[in-house]
Amino acid sequence: MTNREINITYEEYKSIDELNAEDRELAAEAIKAMEGAYAPYSHFHVGAAVRMSNGQIVRGANQENAAFPSGLCAERTAMFAAGARYPDKDMLSLALAGGVMGRLASQPATPCGACRQVMAQYQAKSGKPMSVIMISADKVWKFEKVDDILPLIFNSI
Ligand code: THU
Repeated sequence: MTNREINITYEEYKSIDELNAEDRELAAEAIKAMEGAYAPYSHFHVGAAVRMSNGQIVRGANQENAAFPSGLCAERTAMFAAGARYPDKDMLSLALAGGVMGRLASQPATPCGACRQVMAQYQAKSGKPMSVIMISADKVWKFEKVDDILPLIFNSI
């Protein structure tokens, strides 16, 4: 038996102001996207923004439904819109921000497992790393690739 380890490194910033210009723009779009949340049940508003290889940014926000599983997270709303709008382009980066009643939380919003799996799919589709930026009022995390938030990715069919 061998004990193995998985190491993940990521960057932490004090605020989106410390990010490089492209990431800062994307982060601001994700915060803005929170305004599109429809969250009458959780009151947790999440915004996401995807940067495409053609420079376009596509936004999404969580959409809830009385039949709970019919709703969708902000990240998948954004990625599916981006995939449908620009099917031939790559998704290079995704930023997300969230908080109760649209007020940015103090801890970064972290994507659910289903959204991470969808990120993995689009990353595999493009063959390029998709960075993921998680935003809060007090700090910002940046992961260089989806592998870093979904170790041992399933993509074997
Ligand atoms: N939500 C997202 O939009 N993204 C996440 O990464 C986690 C959760 C949404 C789903 C639901 O509308 C609300 O936040 C509370 O779970």
